[in-house]
Amino acid sequence: MSRSGKVTVVGAGFYGSTTALRLAEYDLFGAVVLSDIVEGKPEGLALDINQSRSIENFETKVIGATTTADGGGYEKTANSDVVVITAGLPRKPGMSRMDLIGINAGIVRGVAENIAKHSPNAVVIVVSNPLDEMTALAQIATKFSYNKVMGQAGMLDTARFTNFVAEKCGVVISAVKTLTLGSHGETMVPVPSRCTVNGKVLTDVLSADEIKDLVDRTRNGGAEIVALLKTGSAYYAPSAAAARMAKAVITNSNEVMPVCAWVNGEYGISGVYLGVEAQIGREGVTKVVESNLTTDELASLKAAAEAVRTKQADVKNL
Ligand code: NAI
Ligand code: 2OP
Repeated sequence: MSRSGKVTVVGAGFYGSTTALRLAEYDLFGAVVLSDIVEGKPEGLALDINQSRSIENFETKVIGATTTADGGGYEKTANSDVVVITAGLPRKPGMSRMDLIGINAGIVRGVAENIAKHSPNAVVIVVSNPLDEMTALAQIATKFSYNKVMGQAGMLDTARFTNFVAEKCGVVISAVKTLTLGSHGETMVPVPSRCTVNGKVLTDVLSADEIKDLVDRTRNGGAEIVALLKTGSAYYAPSAAAARMAKAVITNSNEVMPVCAWVNGEYGISGVYLGVEAQIGREGVTKVVESNLTTDELASLKAAAEAVRTKQADVKNL
């Protein structure tokens, strides 16, 4: 089997380390680099993952890299094809994602500038919160074209919605298709008209009240886990989503997935990073794919765009 491409995961916390593990286990990449500012942490985790290779039967090695805020250690990440930015603080119970903006903006800006210097041709996948704003900031700081910078949120939110619908309906997960668009936050837009259970539209399977409960639970899906964990936030489903995006880039699969992408005219919305369905390939977002939405869903998507637009306009000053 030929392995190719280099992916760097910045931030070796819960999200970053599980993402690196998933990427290595795909056994597709030539190299996976895991970096962090905590000395020894990425190297230790890389060693641990590499020692699992003979048990799980994969060859891809993870390379640990301790970095410094002024760019030390970034040589090991050089010429990455894909970079996943997970560096930053997670939420504590009671915090919104937006409460992280001040501290995480400084971290993401610094990381993005170092990435641009060492991997000028990379596709960047941002996961640090608040997601929509950090994605916009990473594009500003890297100065990469919009298609080369995207955020991970929609696939996670969609996967949460799918899980809740499958549990509610008592069906296998593969029988359910759902979709969420909009922001990774208050203005997340679950799209019931695009949801099916065994091929039947969700509105024929569940009552309006039942759907509303599942939509609300999806919108609060991250907070529900933060409240249970009490320290830190989710990482198994989030890392699965980011790893699948990186895989779509490196294999140039052109799969359509819900991601935070630069929207320029689609749905009558322009000039904002927003959760939409997009085709993902070697150049990042190769196309934003518009779907048929109900009047209410479209209005919610436009409202989400306006809500994140204001905050994204502010990030260049952070
Ligand atoms: P964590 O606290 O476990 O890990 C964060 C890591 O970032 C730490 O190891 C820290 O040392 C590192 N770090 C901080 N500054 C750095 C820098 N300048 N360079 C390199 N590494 C640096 O947090 P976790 O759970 O891994 O979450 C990471 C981020 O992802 C948080 O902002 C969280 O809110 C976000 N997140 C986003 C989701 C999404 O769907 N977009 C879902 C889940 C979490
Ligand atoms: C999540 O949705 C906290 O954004 C993170 O789990």
